[in-house]
Amino acid sequence: MAETVMDTKKVMLSGIQPSGELTLGSYLGAIKHWPARAQEFDCYYFMADLHTITVRQNPAELRRRTLTQLAAYMACGLDPKQNVLFIQSHVPAHAQLAWVLNCYTMYGELSRMTQFKDKSLKNADNINAGLFTYPALMAADILLYQADYVPVGEDQKQHVEICRDIATRFNSIYGDVFKVPEPYIPPVGARVMSLTTPTSKMSKSDHDQNGCVYLLEKPEDILRKFKKAVTDSDMEHCVRYAPKEKPGVANLMQIYSAVTGKSFDEIEREFEGKGYGVFKPAVGEVVADCLRPIREETQRLLEDKAYLETVYREGAERASYIANKTLRKVYKKVGFVQM
Ligand code: TYM
Repeated sequence: MAETVMDTKKVMLSGIQPSGELTLGSYLGAIKHWPARAQEFDCYYFMADLHTITVRQNPAELRRRTLTQLAAYMACGLDPKQNVLFIQSHVPAHAQLAWVLNCYTMYGELSRMTQFKDKSLKNADNINAGLFTYPALMAADILLYQADYVPVGEDQKQHVEICRDIATRFNSIYGDVFKVPEPYIPPVGARVMSLTTPTSKMSKSDHDQNGCVYLLEKPEDILRKFKKAVTDSDMEHCVRYAPKEKPGVANLMQIYSAVTGKSFDEIEREFEGKGYGVFKPAVGEVVADCLRPIREETQRLLEDKAYLETVYREGAERASYIANKTLRKVYKKVGFVQM
């Protein structure tokens, strides 16, 4: 009986690359929205370590960040009994399906990917084939689990769209093998911008440390960064939502709204006549208060390495069971001899 109920649930899946420390952007755009879904969906969340090596990584740092990310997922409220939490490289089916999907993904499609163009510019001495075919691996991540929804920030929408195209192309040749997934993009917080350059995305690979707030950062550092955040040079000095004219203020309002749940109108009223000198530290305070328990719980979990190991081992087992089912079906469809 329990199994029948499980089978009717829709599937939600997402991943984050442990290529840098988690940021406020990855939290507000993605992780924050995951824990509440566990009752309604079968949920899979993973550390996308295979993706990270498209850019050179320090091996010891990559291992540390992968485990820290797992601890942070749990500290953000993901219960490993209710969600499948795993490390991507522990489930070989991801790499296996990615190879197959590479052969159903077009050169032209991959050339149009914004992330490929951006990362090629940033890593001009290492434009490797993995960076180019990255979307085929990401499509494999999603399609292996027959995901219905992929909760991501706005920057990943293009990757979910190419995944839909790959799935549709494969299905049109072999029948209904894959569920065609939908992106789920949150209404606020889907594109958190840098605090120092509010026209660029807040990113874990940003070299300007003051523009980026990290999930596990000390409250005093968070406050300092918000106090220094770039607002605008107009004389108005009032908290008003006008993304084109005042991108810095709009970004802070987005952050404040995403953390407190208040609308832009409510925020404008709250800070009427108060100016940026009051507004900026207020945003810093709500962010620091929101992240404080996450930081403390992550640190506590990181001390229990044996528990973390149990979580990722069980996660890999549960994920592999589903992933291998899809992989076997794909291998059969394309004509590989079954063992
Ligand atoms: P990644 O690791 O760059 O980012 C992880 C998640 O955080 C969101 N995000 C943001 N949201 C709002 N504002 C920001 N400044 C911001 N920065 C990051 C991202 O949109 C993302 O949801 N390719 C993916 C990882 C991945 C994946 C997958 C995701 C691999 N396989 C399968 C979903 C499904 C990536 O590089 O995300």
